[in-house]
Amino acid sequence: MVNGRCNNLLLAVYLSAKCKTFIAPSMDLDMYDHPSNQKNLKKLKTYGNIIMPVGKGQLASGLYGNGRMLEPNQIISFLINHYKSNLPLTGKNVLITSGPTYEQIDPVRFIGNNSSGKMGFALAEVAASQGANVILITGPTNEKIHNSLIKIHPVLSADNMYEAVKKHYADCDIAIASAAVSDFRVKSPAKKKIKKFEGKRSLELVPTKDVLAYMGRNKKNQFLVGFALETDNELENAKIKLKEKNLNAIVLNSLSDKGAGFSSNTNKISYIKMNDSVKKFPLQSKLDCAKNIFEQILSS
Ligand code: CTP
Repeated sequence: MVNGRCNNLLLAVYLSAKCKTFIAPSMDLDMYDHPSNQKNLKKLKTYGNIIMPVGKGQLASGLYGNGRMLEPNQIISFLINHYKSNLPLTGKNVLITSGPTYEQIDPVRFIGNNSSGKMGFALAEVAASQGANVILITGPTNEKIHNSLIKIHPVLSADNMYEAVKKHYADCDIAIASAAVSDFRVKSPAKKKIKKFEGKRSLELVPTKDVLAYMGRNKKNQFLVGFALETDNELENAKIKLKEKNLNAIVLNSLSDKGAGFSSNTNKISYIKMNDSVKKFPLQSKLDCAKNIFEQILSS
């Protein structure tokens, strides 16, 4: 590697690679310590390679000491830590509300909505892939998380979501409310299944707590982003929500756009800032929407 020899597949791959190369040395202890090998490792570093440390323990020769290749899980941790410390959201706490809420009518029925949670989960994955510690407070969903930096807090109702947000909001740097929170709940849910013969035909509803408005009222240094789902007077309505809920930005998605909104894998969003500037994006995957939202947040 030091001399640019290319007489085997590994060296051919190394010499042709345009990406960063990490080296996990493995050698018997005295060979590893030999000045010629140490000099070569230093030289490899000057080429931009990253040299991992060696492990200490039993060696192939039967001797004990420095020279073991790091265990595969240690190599993975090394890579994660290396990239994490160079990411734009490293060390930041991001809170995301996601999915629908279910407001119980009786033990078997609820009032819900069509939100799949896909947008919130995409936001969580993008935040984590940029190094953030993510708290994902989600209503019922079939979505799964993939990054260990995401801590998931499943909730059922709007009031459950409000309590979970209250617990975590003070410590977060960025909060994004993508949940489709029910605006009303049943005043007194029945303890037993409501029977047909009881002939009950109406439900008394009372307003739920507005989770995002709570975050706006209690905002200190957080960067707060809301969502607005509108069917008419979209831009005006979104701008009103931005001001009324004391947000830093709001993401508008319109149900009238084909391929946008609930359940689909795509969305068409506009990102509106406090100064009323609007950045419109084309129809794109929810993952790309999430990437664009974070790009906007990070450039603020
Ligand atoms: N939101 C919330 N808690 C609620 C209602 C809404 O946190 N009880 C949040 C949503 O997550 C979203 C934003 O407020 O980020 C706007 O939600 P939306 O349903 O578009 O508007 P509402 O405020 O509910 O107003 P309306 O239903 O009259 O449009």
